[in-house]
Amino acid sequence: MPELVVPSQRYKESFIEAVREAQMMASGLGDTLGRSAPGLEADFTMFLAELRRYEPGQRLPEGFVHSEALWLVDGENYLGRVSLRHTLNERLRTFGGHIGYEIRPSARRQGYGTLILRLTLNRARELGLDRVLVTCDVDNSGSRRVIEANGGVLEGEFQLDFYDKPIYRYWIQL
Ligand SMILES: CC(C)(COP(=O)(O)OP(=O)(O)OC[C@H]1O[C@@H](n2cnc3c(N)ncnc32)[C@H](O)[C@@H]1OP(=O)(O)O)[C@@H](O)C(=O)NCCC(=O)NCCS
Repeated sequence: MPELVVPSQRYKESFIEAVREAQMMASGLGDTLGRSAPGLEADFTMFLAELRRYEPGQRLPEGFVHSEALWLVDGENYLGRVSLRHTLNERLRTFGGHIGYEIRPSARRQGYGTLILRLTLNRARELGLDRVLVTCDVDNSGSRRVIEANGGVLEGEFQLDFYDKPIYRYWIQL
């Protein structure tokens, strides 16, 4: 049964395999995490610690909000990742929202995108949030379907001066 977990050593091999997979397909993981597979092999412990650097209790860099990184896994297998921001600042209210997710390329189109958002909404509820903002590129049909399947209500389409594509902003009532 796939579940959302706190990133840990248990998934090291599978996570690194997913990074290699994404780099081969030149999509995802690499860009946001900015990590190479050899770098992760060498210091996965440091990487895990960095994933926790915005959690409550940590001192935040200027302009950051508290957030948590969670992974969707099935047994030992890494399937995808999500970042759940506990609050919004002005920037996130405009672009990025509360939740950002990604499914590893080989696991896409099997329902995991819809699942990772559903499980993250449960977590957001536990944290006491009453609604969350999720944004996506207008041309990201997969993500739009994921959001809409989870009850996303479109606020509108926006063109931002710092981003080249129009985006949609959706609110999900929890
Ligand atoms: C967007 C993403 C998370 C979707 O994950 P996924 O596991 O493929 O999603 P699902 O399998 O739950 O698919 C949900 C729906 O979207 C559709 N879909 C998925 N990818 C699609 C695509 N590239 N084009 C069109 N439709 C797509 C599925 O067929 C499914 O349709 P259905 O509701 O009719 O069954 C995944 O493609 C991804 O990680 N992309 C890169 C990162 C990203 O864009 N993150 C979101 C930022 S807002």
